[in-house]
Amino acid sequence: MSVWLSSLFLLLFTLAPTLLLRIYTTRLAEGNVRRRRAILSALGAPESDQTRHTLVGFFHPYCNAGGGGERVLWTAVALLQRTDPHIVSVVYSGDGAAGKEEIISKVKSRFNISLDPTKLHFVFLQSRYLVEDASWRHLTLLGQSLGSMYLVWEALMQLMPDLYIDTMGYAFTFPVVRVLSAGRVPVGAYVHYPTISTDMLARVRARRGNYANAQRISGSAVLSFAKLLYYRIFMYTYACTLRCASFLMVNSTWTKFHINSLLAHRDAPLDALSSILHMFVLLYQHILMLPTNYDRPGSAKIVYPPCETQELVDFPLEGREKVILSVAQFRPEKDHAAQLHTLAELFKTHPEHRKDIRLVMVGGCRNAEDEARVEGLRALAKELGASLSPLDIDRRLLLNQRQLQRKL
Ligand SMILES: *[C@@H]1O[C@H](CO)[C@@H](O)[C@H](O)[C@H]1NC(C)=O
Ligand SMILES: *[C@@H]1O[C@H](CO)[C@@H](O)[C@H](O)[C@H]1NC(C)=O
Repeated sequence: MSVWLSSLFLLLFTLAPTLLLRIYTTRLAEGNVRRRRAILSALGAPESDQTRHTLVGFFHPYCNAGGGGERVLWTAVALLQRTDPHIVSVVYSGDGAAGKEEIISKVKSRFNISLDPTKLHFVFLQSRYLVEDASWRHLTLLGQSLGSMYLVWEALMQLMPDLYIDTMGYAFTFPVVRVLSAGRVPVGAYVHYPTISTDMLARVRARRGNYANAQRISGSAVLSFAKLLYYRIFMYTYACTLRCASFLMVNSTWTKFHINSLLAHRDAPLDALSSILHMFVLLYQHILMLPTNYDRPGSAKIVYPPCETQELVDFPLEGREKVILSVAQFRPEKDHAAQLHTLAELFKTHPEHRKDIRLVMVGGCRNAEDEARVEGLRALAKELGASLSPLDIDRRLLLNQRQLQRKL
């Protein structure tokens, strides 16, 4: 009896879904051959040459937003266009209303980046509203993540790329891409900011109120516990999805630290639960003879975001004073005194600079302690005065580029 039951169980929960999924992904792949051919022909690639093409997919639902994240995206697309004529970039976007021409001309006017329309294809998505904050009034993180999984399914139904790169931080799309492509499409991402970090978890745990942790919740033990559990499960799942990527790029040391600590994140009770799920995944991979040995992300690599320097290069240098500008709040950890000592050292070894170099410190004071710190710096400057020429500490200057230029 129990043999029958367990066979039935095996059939219902492993073999049947596995085979159904297999049928689905095979049909998707077959349809994709046709769609891919049609798209490449429409872009002007001769049929005989099409197998040499690589489609690099960028998942960027808000590609027309014109922000810093979009500069990263378009710089990457332009780089691929410059370096390999057989790469076609595919951008998955919800900006169908704008259309290809308008997006390309906005990229030119906003970022001064020229794109070749024959090496760029847009797949427009209808369900972008699913990843908007406003669509999920409660459990926003979870809602947006599930929404992104649906959105990427809509994307891949229209075209499966040869390489998938998420540039907006939708890590929950990684496992969907892996499954729907039957493990054949490598997944990577450029991460600006982690969706959830260990800091957020600590804040709920300590029951501290802030913008994301409303007073009502930080004040109640039961709600706090529920929220903590929710964050904990969410963070665990987020870490698992990150590990589905083959490579991860990050925009800064800060993000690298957070992503690496998520990649190393363990949670004993949840690990036990997920190992059951993992068994099913392995079974699925082995029954279908799918690749199981794809690259693991290891650790995130920093790729600093591109920065427009043309305007600064054009800035004339003639007729200017030699000013060393130091911009930082007057906090203890900034150690402004070190700068004064360094300058004094410079003047000792190179007295010829004493008459033309000036150090200007610009920054805000948060409280009386910061004000006192500035007074201390003034005193230190006077103390080192024997070796220092005129020194300014202007703590009230606003950090506005135009004002700074005028002041200097
Ligand atoms: C736009 O980029 C080109 C080089 O690609 C440069 O020569 C030109 O000065 C840039 N224009 C502006 C307004 O920055
Ligand atoms: C990385 O991205 C985040 C989110 O957009 C941004 O706040 C941060 O300044 C970026 N870091 C760098 C070094 O550009």
